[in-house]
Amino acid sequence: MEWLNIIMRWLHLASVITVVGTVVFLRLIIKPAIGNFSEEKRLSVLNSLQYRLKILLHSAIAGILISGLYNTHLIWKTTESTYHNMLLFKILLALIVIILAIYSVSGSSTKNQYFSKKTQGLTLSLILAVIIIALSAFLRSLH
Ligand code: HEM
Repeated sequence: MEWLNIIMRWLHLASVITVVGTVVFLRLIIKPAIGNFSEEKRLSVLNSLQYRLKILLHSAIAGILISGLYNTHLIWKTTESTYHNMLLFKILLALIVIILAIYSVSGSSTKNQYFSKKTQGLTLSLILAVIIIALSAFLRSLH
């Protein structure tokens, strides 16, 4: 079903753009902007963002998982072990990014220690996302 393949490719790209875009926005725009705020002010900013962020992020993660598994199912039989190993490595990194992204928008504690842990999580998530995108481009060149 060619049309389903196209829809799933679109879903994968749209969801990936949403998750990576959200991580970039949080890490490079929001965190530096509110880093020096008092805990109370930080709490009010984060609380006002949290509900929409959660819906957006959780929907996009569902999109990544559905389309990613579909793409994997589609491509698995026509590819070989180098491809499989790299794809499994990519999926492992993707799961770490997903867990870190969920962690960064969960809970409402804004205590300094907690805040800096979440910032570190977002930094790692951003670095891994850049690596995953490079891996995905490489995977595409393998078939
Ligand atoms: C943060 C998470 C992820 C990112 C940033 C990401 C990124 C990408 C990108 C940019 C592509 C190329 C799309 C295209 O050219 O049409 C791609 C393809 C693909 N992704 Fe993901 N992805 C992620 C998660 C996943 C997951 C969780 C799975 C599997 C469960 C998956 C499986 C695949 C497969 C099988 C392809 C096709 C690769 C090929 O063309 O050979 N991805 N991904």
